[in-house]
Amino acid sequence: MDIQKNQFAKQLKDQEMVSSPFLIKYSAVQVGKTGKPYMNLVLMDRTGEVEARIWEDVPQVANHAVQDAFVMIDGKCQLFQGRKQVVIKKIQVLREDQIETKDFIAEGTVDVESEYQKLVSYVDSMEDPDYKTLARSILIEDESIVQLLKKAPAAKSVHHAYRGGLLEHMVSITGMLDFISGHYGRLVCRDLLFLGGFFHDIGKIWELSYDRTTDYTTEGRLIGHLVMGVELIERKVHEIHSKGSLPHPFPEEKKLLIKHVILAHHGRLEYGSPKRPKCLEALIVHMIDDLDSKVNSISQFVKNDENPGRWTGLHRHYERFFYKPDWAMENFEN
Ligand SMILES: [Fe+2]
Ligand SMILES: [Fe+2]
Repeated sequence: MDIQKNQFAKQLKDQEMVSSPFLIKYSAVQVGKTGKPYMNLVLMDRTGEVEARIWEDVPQVANHAVQDAFVMIDGKCQLFQGRKQVVIKKIQVLREDQIETKDFIAEGTVDVESEYQKLVSYVDSMEDPDYKTLARSILIEDESIVQLLKKAPAAKSVHHAYRGGLLEHMVSITGMLDFISGHYGRLVCRDLLFLGGFFHDIGKIWELSYDRTTDYTTEGRLIGHLVMGVELIERKVHEIHSKGSLPHPFPEEKKLLIKHVILAHHGRLEYGSPKRPKCLEALIVHMIDDLDSKVNSISQFVKNDENPGRWTGLHRHYERFFYKPDWAMENFEN
């Protein structure tokens, strides 16, 4: 490593000269009103993102300034319509061994290993031998899945969009499902709820690519994480059968129920679920998933908001301004 990172996206100020490496999260060539091409970029590092523009020599730099490239940037940060934007004067591609990669990848605030241990103890607490064998075969015995799970974000940008975010989301949901199963007792099957917590989004480990920046894979775009999750269940049930892990065939009804919980977790046809929830466990997993993703995405939005005062800027997706509590104000002052 020979290039130190000393300026970070979140701390850049208006009129500050910028000379620092960044990772390109997004890159596009656009054409201005005069017909001249310019580049629209989003630069990132572990603290966040900042928009950037290149106005000069676009044909020469467009091939290098691509998504996932590490680049050395020279330019100036300015406010444009209330948002920070770096106007780049010089850009140079860097090799991975010239920089410290962990400066560029957003980390979650949770410790991945301890989250994984929580997940394992939820699996250990399951009672139904069929459901438990299925959970173990994926979350404990399949090393390649465990490795991916410890890295994957839960989304490209909406919620838990950082390393380990998927695991954090799974553990958070399963904890709530544990509480709910205690609350409703015999009305719901705790083990089926747990499988919903574990597997509703498990397809995201292949739906997304997250070596550097996060994007959709071709399989993700063509198939999507709901169907990919169902395919995994089918594959693992076959494996359990061929290894003889259970003294009997995996019960068909249980296989259908867990597949249904996965397929129905987006709740509505227009949100990408081919079936609406048709058992209590599917309904509960859908609602708790919705709750957990909203709490995470809104808290991240409030935390990252840079407007002075008690109110955030407009959240376009939720179509409202959010109130900033004390914890968000303290965060902003630091
Ligand atoms: Fe999902
Ligand atoms: Fe989810």
